[in-house]
Amino acid sequence: MAKRRKNGLYGGVSEELSAVMRTGWADTERRGLRLDEQAPYAARRRATLSARFPGERLVIPSGNLKVRSNDDCYPFRPYSGYVHMTGDQARDGALVMEPRAEGGHDAYCYQLPRDGRDDDEFWTGPSAELWMGRRRSLAESERVLGLPCRDVRGAADDLAAASGVPTRIVRGVDPVLQAAVTTDEELDTGLEEALGDLRLVKDAWEIAEIRRAVDSTVRGFTDAVRELSGAIASSERWIEGTFFRRARLEGNGLGYGTICAAGEHATIMHWTDNDGPVRPGDLLLLDAGVETHTLYTADVTRTLPIGGTFTPLQREIYDAVYEAQEAGMAAVKPGAHYRDFHDAAQRSLTARLVEWGFVEGPVDRAYELGLQRRFTMAGTGHMLGLDVHDCAQARTTEYVDGVLEPGMVLTVEPGLYFQPDDLTVPEEWRGIGVRIEDDLVVTDGGHENLSAGLPRSADDVEAWMAEYAG
Ligand code: GLY
Ligand code: MN
Ligand code: MN
Repeated sequence: MAKRRKNGLYGGVSEELSAVMRTGWADTERRGLRLDEQAPYAARRRATLSARFPGERLVIPSGNLKVRSNDDCYPFRPYSGYVHMTGDQARDGALVMEPRAEGGHDAYCYQLPRDGRDDDEFWTGPSAELWMGRRRSLAESERVLGLPCRDVRGAADDLAAASGVPTRIVRGVDPVLQAAVTTDEELDTGLEEALGDLRLVKDAWEIAEIRRAVDSTVRGFTDAVRELSGAIASSERWIEGTFFRRARLEGNGLGYGTICAAGEHATIMHWTDNDGPVRPGDLLLLDAGVETHTLYTADVTRTLPIGGTFTPLQREIYDAVYEAQEAGMAAVKPGAHYRDFHDAAQRSLTARLVEWGFVEGPVDRAYELGLQRRFTMAGTGHMLGLDVHDCAQARTTEYVDGVLEPGMVLTVEPGLYFQPDDLTVPEEWRGIGVRIEDDLVVTDGGHENLSAGLPRSADDVEAWMAEYAG
């Protein structure tokens, strides 16, 4: 919770003011609320989780505000496992799955309810509604979430008092609740892994949300191309701001910090300063994703010739990445090993690097030794969903060593990065970075590229820029 303010201009509250503040408020309880459309999906997800942990209490907190300074906090982002299991985004919440003697679990949710008006908390407290905005009452939360709800201010005591039941908690999310329960770290990790496993295959509701995130992202990229001249006149920040406007207008915001990398910045995988010049003749690598109001994100990259056309060398590198992406995407189908798309794309890039003479062949040996990584740097993709690198805590056997199934959503994002100070490549190659990243859902028959609304081939990118950036 936010800290109270020190050095505010008002020192205290007179009894008269306190009395005046407590009176004269309308009843604003919302009585006509309907069940959230995600609630039945969340209930099914909880049923799957329940089956994994018979006889055990599970505690999945949403998290708290983090203080930036004094009474100023960072924007709140709930723990994704909590969102997945409840459809809720409230801070200071927790889902509890209480084991039933006859099997299965009863689920309920701790929530920070509305402030009453019979003390001063609602306007002087650390979470004062009058300052921070209205919260839901417990009755409202019950209707929206379809779960019994309790006041979170009693949660630590409740859980400490009920310590006879074997309990697991997701660690590192809510320190107060974590301190209230006695658990085993290894078992807690098992809960976190299970929550990751259960997000590997998206349900229909989630796929629709990711589709929505990608569609907004496509519009954000088109905005960026339209506003390229503003960036040329200022800096990469212009594009960052342009994309952010779309993200805030259509969604909750960004799924991750936008990478807007012109010229040699494109060789820095996590370039987010975005304060460099945007010069015709260079490439611009834009890696950005809109996060929906329900917190699902897209993750898309396009590399654009700022002046509208690729130079022959830029195109040669771009085409190599494009071919690798084609090879990677072709390997995305049900029954394929998850690693197949990575292997296909990386082998393709390794072959080009050997052909160019930057990596010593033969290709099989180079790939086995990972020699291409000097220039390809990252893995070829990852699961995508509530988190940009989704399901990161899932069991390795289920994720990177697993098999693709319909409903999985992943990125395919090969790249080539020639560092500006790399003496092993000719000078004109140095400082060029290219990545192409798309978001794919595995279908019964193969895959669908959700971000196909954006051009990918060099010709199509140039035509797109001629249409929008001209
Ligand atoms: N934008 C982060 C990634 O592509 O993985
Ligand atoms: Mn990305
Ligand atoms: Mn990615």
